[in-house]
Amino acid sequence: MNSKEIRAQFLDFFETKKHKIVPSAPMVIKDDPTLMFTNAGMNQFKEFFLGNSVAKSPRMADTQKCLRVSGKHNDLEEVGKDTYHHTMFEMLGNWSFGDYFKKEAIEWAWELLTDKLQIDKDSLYVSVFEGSKDSDNLEMDNEAYELWSGIVPKDRIIMGNKKDNFWEMGDQGPCGPCSEIHVDIRPAEEKAETSGAFLVNQDHPLVVEIWNLVFMQYNRKADGALEPLPEKHVDTGMGFERLCMVLQGVQSNYDTDVFTPIIREIETITNADYGKNEEIDIAIRVIADHIRAVAFSIADGQLPSNTGAGYVIRRILRRAIRYGFTFLNTKEPFMYRLVNVLTETMGNAFPELKDQRQLIENVVKEEENSFLNTLEQGLVLLDNLVSKAKGKVVQGRKAFELYDTYGFPIDLTALILEEKGYTLDEKGFHEAMKEQKDRSRSASEIAKEDWMVLSDDSEQEFVGYDLLETNVKLVKYRKVTSKKEGEQYQMVFNLTPFYPEGGGQVGDKGYLEAPNGDVVYILDTKKENNEIVHFAKNLPKSTSDTFKAVVDKKQRQRTAANHTATHLLHQALREVLGNHVEQKGSAVHSKYLRFDFSHFSKMTVEELREVENFVNARIEGQLPLDENRSVPMEEALKGGAMALFGEEYGETVRTIRFGQSMELCGGAHVKITSDIWHFKIKSEGAVAAGIRRIEAITYDAVKDFYFHNNRSLFEIKDLLNNAQNPVNAVKALQDENAKLKKEVEQLLKDKAKNLKGDLLAELKEVNGIQFLAKKVDLDAAGIKDLSFEMGNNKNNLFLLFGTEQNGKALLSCYISKELVAEKNLNAGTIVRELGKCIQGGGGGQPFFATAGGKNPAGIEEALSKAEEYLN
Ligand code: SER
Repeated sequence: MNSKEIRAQFLDFFETKKHKIVPSAPMVIKDDPTLMFTNAGMNQFKEFFLGNSVAKSPRMADTQKCLRVSGKHNDLEEVGKDTYHHTMFEMLGNWSFGDYFKKEAIEWAWELLTDKLQIDKDSLYVSVFEGSKDSDNLEMDNEAYELWSGIVPKDRIIMGNKKDNFWEMGDQGPCGPCSEIHVDIRPAEEKAETSGAFLVNQDHPLVVEIWNLVFMQYNRKADGALEPLPEKHVDTGMGFERLCMVLQGVQSNYDTDVFTPIIREIETITNADYGKNEEIDIAIRVIADHIRAVAFSIADGQLPSNTGAGYVIRRILRRAIRYGFTFLNTKEPFMYRLVNVLTETMGNAFPELKDQRQLIENVVKEEENSFLNTLEQGLVLLDNLVSKAKGKVVQGRKAFELYDTYGFPIDLTALILEEKGYTLDEKGFHEAMKEQKDRSRSASEIAKEDWMVLSDDSEQEFVGYDLLETNVKLVKYRKVTSKKEGEQYQMVFNLTPFYPEGGGQVGDKGYLEAPNGDVVYILDTKKENNEIVHFAKNLPKSTSDTFKAVVDKKQRQRTAANHTATHLLHQALREVLGNHVEQKGSAVHSKYLRFDFSHFSKMTVEELREVENFVNARIEGQLPLDENRSVPMEEALKGGAMALFGEEYGETVRTIRFGQSMELCGGAHVKITSDIWHFKIKSEGAVAAGIRRIEAITYDAVKDFYFHNNRSLFEIKDLLNNAQNPVNAVKALQDENAKLKKEVEQLLKDKAKNLKGDLLAELKEVNGIQFLAKKVDLDAAGIKDLSFEMGNNKNNLFLLFGTEQNGKALLSCYISKELVAEKNLNAGTIVRELGKCIQGGGGGQPFFATAGGKNPAGIEEALSKAEEYLN
């Protein structure tokens, strides 16, 4: 079976068991502060487990793109070194939301593996949670044990501890005991020697976990306590690549058809052979794995960057580039050339790869170029460190600087040092690293108290499309403390007119008013999971009151104008530049809007004007907002609405339309386009390879913009003596200026010529030397020209010029070359000594040197000392 068939078999099987097959959620998570990337198939269903919302179907199954590179589940450092860990992988999963439980989950898993997929029963082991004696004090999972005992011999059931058999998504959230299924694919003779039961969970490459059946029963709270969930659920996850390994009869995930086409391409590009040398093999596996993680993230809209999720992606890519650089000798960008084969292998199951191929290639190539430069610079800096190292040990702190400032990886530093016969002070490196981590942790550290729940009203309705003011009741609140913001309170209401940050749009601000007139300001509004959280510096005095919640109307109007303008801008760009334009990011603030989009060259002035005209024509056209708050997703797509990759949409969506084009959007918009007033682009530039950014303003920001420009124009006109046509007046001034400049240059040349004649006449002989020491009114370059010109006319010259420029003193000494040799004179030594008179220093060559100082009053003294010196 090829991998495509295996994926289909899994989904078909669960479809026959009445599961709804759903699409993978995006791999990059945008609105959950506790998680950067999807790290398990269940992430998108977290709210169903917690009972915060109800699933449309009680049984679901899918294949989910996962990335385990940060937080609780982080496999990054394993990847490449072994044959069965990945950064990005597919997790096949089936779920029950308060529906079936352990019995069905166990029986169906067994049926699929042994009956449908025909995996030899004798190669399978299962594990069961043994309980824990710690503060959680959990009982052994007897139910699972009994169920498994009816299916497999007892010696194939392994009892497992909390680390292996109690699954938790993160520090908080749904969790529960689990049963894992492991497969032993060792050759028969090895099996005969040692039972696989001893090798389960022992990091043996051929005795690996393939499926984890989690029985969700608890919620881990912020304070660490376990709270039983209102209902019991099933969450299973099977490693797709590992399943392919077993079914395709190979001994490494990288030998399955998921990876072999990529590996063949790496071999072709780098001339390396896979399977001959362990170091080279590791490098090839790292590259084959990492290109998937990076390509899928970019397709999901997450570009490499210097912060957050973008930084994680950049580090993954750099890890791969470095392995190539060190072990495969790749000194040119090459990873971008793998995107094609990846798209051919996975593009059918994940069409976003096909659609975003060009962009992924461009971004990866640019990242490669810039990191290869860094690597080269780093090598130079490293040479420098080596030359300064005492006793063949390079200081750890210095290596840390190289890592921190230039992104130069520490293992590469260690490797290069080793080749040169040096060692690295690793202790110093780790100390410096720890200090930095402590610094950044304490800057952002957040302590969250548990929610104080006042009512069980779990339907938090957003009413802010229609109302900017309404009465609300507090449902729950908690205190959060961070270094950055200090103490704050977060509040959730039964309903709210406040728009939570999302879809690029900033959160609303405003205030709460208590019946006695007390006011609490709402500083920001954000979405956390499915709840709308309001941030404030303090709590209302009586939390049980009914409050008037009032959104800052002006801010909302401005933001709405910018949001609608963003949609019109998107349309305009597709119209003016072409349909390759896709949104790559947007930020809708009250003061401005920012829009990132795919396009490959700088926009011309004409194009920018056309785009502005397009948008302004629609503003003048007074197009009313035509919205539909609940359209089934499929219908919206059929109607031509464009969904963005990497955005998650529910079953029903809100569509909005101004004129022709229909879009999916949950944000705040104007009721009619004329409310935007006017649209003005302020800048256009590049943000990454193939991605441009426009910043623009609307509404009263445009008024301010024109007001300031107009005022400047009046001031300019005023300076131009009230010229009727200031443009012509400025042009005339520029012409006149150019003419005057030329005249001045000529005059200066003439002056220098005259000066040279005068000064040659002033020379006097001192000890057989033609000597002159004089203060002149020329700048440094002028003095230099003058000195060398005089030198062309006279031999045996010793010139010392002093000048005062902008309150600073300059000395300049010229000595004919024959004097330098015969009399052993050195201009450099002389100016250094004379520089003391002007409180400065200097140097240069024996025949010409200069000194600068801050005391012009000392120039005369220096000049007279020169003659004394020659005497
Ligand atoms: N959530 C579990 C895991 O990730 C099972 O899906 O292993």
